[in-house]
Amino acid sequence: MNREEMQACPPSSIAVVGCGHVGLVTAAGMASLGHQVVGIDKNPDLVQQLSRGSVPFLERGLPELTSQMLAEGRLTFTTSYTDALREAKFVFLCVNTPPTATGAPDIRYVRMAAAALGEELATRGRQPIIINKSTSPIGTGERIDAILSTFITQDNGHSGIVANPEFLREGSAVYDFFHPDRIVIGADSEVNAQAVAQLYEGIDAPLVMTDLRSAEMIKYVSNAYLATRVSFVNEIARLCEALNLDVDPIVTGAGMDPRIGQHFFKPGIGYGGSCLPKDVAALCYTGDSAGISMRLLSSVQEINLGQRRHAVQCLRQALGTLEGRTIAVWGITFKGGSEDLRESPALDVIRLLQNEGARIQAYDPSQVTDGDLEDAVLLSEDAIDAVKGADALAVLTDWPEFTQVDFAEVLASMPGRYVYDGRNILKREHVEAVGGIYQGMGRPITHEGQFHASVSQP
Ligand SMILES: NC(=O)c1ccc[n+]([C@@H]2O[C@H](COP(=O)([O-])OP(=O)(O)OC[C@H]3O[C@@H](n4cnc5c(N)ncnc54)[C@H](O)[C@@H]3O)[C@@H](O)[C@H]2O)c1
Repeated sequence: MNREEMQACPPSSIAVVGCGHVGLVTAAGMASLGHQVVGIDKNPDLVQQLSRGSVPFLERGLPELTSQMLAEGRLTFTTSYTDALREAKFVFLCVNTPPTATGAPDIRYVRMAAAALGEELATRGRQPIIINKSTSPIGTGERIDAILSTFITQDNGHSGIVANPEFLREGSAVYDFFHPDRIVIGADSEVNAQAVAQLYEGIDAPLVMTDLRSAEMIKYVSNAYLATRVSFVNEIARLCEALNLDVDPIVTGAGMDPRIGQHFFKPGIGYGGSCLPKDVAALCYTGDSAGISMRLLSSVQEINLGQRRHAVQCLRQALGTLEGRTIAVWGITFKGGSEDLRESPALDVIRLLQNEGARIQAYDPSQVTDGDLEDAVLLSEDAIDAVKGADALAVLTDWPEFTQVDFAEVLASMPGRYVYDGRNILKREHVEAVGGIYQGMGRPITHEGQFHASVSQP
């Protein structure tokens, strides 16, 4: 059955457990599709803030959508499972599944949420369908089922588990909720799968219906593939540096093959954030547990971490030593458009530079404050403030606004000449035209005598 064939779905009552990035987008998004939604979070401060319409993280359009849904009375927040579950026909689990040192994701919050649901639902007659959105190892749906079954007896046995992995990108999460590439629904019951599919009525996207485990696997495969592309293009960039080639026209040319494409095909200091590193590690762990050595993904991880060391090496080489040098850093978050610092490659580069005695003056356009940073990083007011007195500039996050900065002003404020573009977002000629020395990832420092590549469209 495709979306067109589905009958119009009446609004339903939904509880969303966990109101972080994924949970809040899901809650506000579902409310705007017409459903009555209650968000539950164990963090009372967060619940208070959200109830006032204040969203404590940077996500385009989310404060507006949340406030609108609160005002229209379709969205509320609570810390109480009892209150939230009173009317709920569906419960989304959107709790965090952080990494552990072994690579295995920590599913304790999923377990705790399942137990809290079980306790609350134990005596209820009609049971809600439980939909797991947290990225969780293969078999987690069955674990949730087992936990619930210890509370809910045969007589009023629970309605079942559905896996509905989330693919949103931080920074464009609201857009992604309303325009997903696909909606993946995994269930052991056709009826439950259809019921969950109907919640998305109004969103035009292909539906992928599978069993529980396959849906869980789709999420890991998607993220592992994206990470693989990044490490592939980074390895090619390193080869280009060794051969004194500019990587840009090479990957653009290769990516024009529709079988390859241009997305996630840009060199830099590597992938980071709360998802890709943990999900690749989790798939490696899953492979090990199943007796399959995930050699490609192990290399993907190794290459990714190597990019951070390589950026430091370039800066060291350009400056002679890092001891006592002042380095301006543009960008601290794991990617532009987000204030998320989790697994940020920029933070790793900063730590490595500090280890070698460099002093860091950093600017990030997000709301990052000194309190968010464990290291002694001097936070600057703006991009120009950060370069004052600096021996070099390192661009470590791909915020679009860095491409708009006037390099004449940068180099007038900065005693050093060297600009390291760890995200390949600057134009070499903008830096070199005003006397700067430019180096990017796979864009060698000397580029003399080479044919200037260009790509034209018909
Ligand atoms: N952030 C992303 O870009 C993204 C994208 C796709 C998938 N995911 C996955 O979605 C899941 C959630 O990610 P996130 O970024 O929203 O996490 P998050 O850390 O931003 O939010 C998780 C929230 O769950 C709450 N919580 C934890 N245990 C709870 C419990 N027992 N009861 C009530 N509340 C509880 C926490 O207080 C927190 O507010 C993770 O598995 C993640 O891998 C994240």
